[in-house]
Amino acid sequence: MLSKTIQEALNNQVLMEAQSSQAYLAMASWADIQPGLKGVSQFFFKHSDEERMHMLKLINFINERGGFAMIPALEQPILTFPSLKKAFEELLGHEIKVSESINAIVDLSLQEKDYATLNFLQWYVNEQIEEERLARECNDKLELIGDDKSGLYLFDRDIITMGNDK
Ligand code: FEO
Repeated sequence: MLSKTIQEALNNQVLMEAQSSQAYLAMASWADIQPGLKGVSQFFFKHSDEERMHMLKLINFINERGGFAMIPALEQPILTFPSLKKAFEELLGHEIKVSESINAIVDLSLQEKDYATLNFLQWYVNEQIEEERLARECNDKLELIGDDKSGLYLFDRDIITMGNDK
């Protein structure tokens, strides 16, 4: 059975994952209407789906353990970006916040000796390592590319397969 505190923290995480999914969906739609960014758009659509899966895993866990997963209202995400680099900076910042939030719940479950939640969260801890790595890699590449159009062409082509090895 989940404690009230852990249940609240997990429900807050449901909100974070839902907001992530929504934020990346907005990035996908924005990239979709930019010239030459179909690969990036595809990457964001896929990422948005993954965040929804992260949310669903949490909902399932909360309900399975005698809690109640409450589906939250969502704020409208950022819809447009001054550049692709800015969109990826936004993504990295977002993932760092998600990692901090997961770590805080890990901490809480240790304090409460809730080993089932602790064990469940290990998947998220590992996932966040990968998500932050991927976001940093994209940011580093875009930093190198700058305004070089051929570099951006290759980035858009290669991003479809980035992160497929996880
Ligand atoms: Fe589910 Fe990217 O955090």
